[in-house]
Amino acid sequence: MSPQATSTVVSRQTVIPRWSTALIVMHWLMVLAILVTMSLGWIANDMPRSLAQYRMFGWHKSFGLLVLALAVLRTVVRLRASAPPGNRPGRPWERRAARVSHGLLYVCMFALPVSGWLVNSASDVPFKWFWLVPVPDIAAASPELEQIARSLHAGFLWTLLTLLAIHILAALRHQFVLRDSVLWQMLPLRGLRR
Ligand code: HEM
Ligand code: HEM
Repeated sequence: MSPQATSTVVSRQTVIPRWSTALIVMHWLMVLAILVTMSLGWIANDMPRSLAQYRMFGWHKSFGLLVLALAVLRTVVRLRASAPPGNRPGRPWERRAARVSHGLLYVCMFALPVSGWLVNSASDVPFKWFWLVPVPDIAAASPELEQIARSLHAGFLWTLLTLLAIHILAALRHQFVLRDSVLWQMLPLRGLRR
């Protein structure tokens, strides 16, 4: 086979470069942790005041703090990672929109659990992480602060949900309209070719 033919075959079957395995694992692990936390929050919120509701909020808050810990770890991983080659196709405004929305998703990954922690501290409810590790308060008990923190927690929740809807639509647009590799680059599938 001539060198020319080999290179043609290679160029038609290029292995798609992906984000680092660590970042891909963190991305999907956090999607799962955030969805679990959110569902537990809504379930607890709909329960009548009872010991069962207190326990359900205990699970919610424990998974929520797990999200916070993962967010710290992910930020460290992200600062050391670079985007795969060929990432961010499109016009300058599209690249800027992706950067801004990803930045805001990071803000929510921190602000949502911290505001929840603030609600818990201001309402002076004792809380052990997964019933094992006592969690210190980050603010003094205060009904006024509790109200503010509740509004912040709800506000960040809806901000995250709005960003998530945009994020998913953008991923689907890349996959089915622009037909580029952006979604494949974030999937934990080895050896993808195009
Ligand atoms: C990614 C992390 C988190 C998400 C997605 C989340 C989501 C939610 C949701 C969906 C609710 C139900 C009420 C509503 O719809 O506004 C809620 C309520 C609550 N969350 Fe979180 N939460 C997170 C982290 C935390 C953490 C870390 C804590 C505490 C350590 C916490 C404490 C609370 C409390 C105390 C409430 C009840 C608030 C109220 O009664 O208004 N959350 N959260
Ligand atoms: C709560 C859920 C989610 C959060 C917080 C989130 C957050 C992020 C962030 C911050 C990035 C930028 C890469 C980084 O710095 O880590 C990213 C990239 C990405 N996400 Fe998500 N994501 C979520 C859910 C999803 C879902 C459900 C999909 C699939 C439909 C998805 C598809 C992607 C893709 C394809 C990229 C790569 C984008 C690029 O290369 O520019 N994400 N995500």
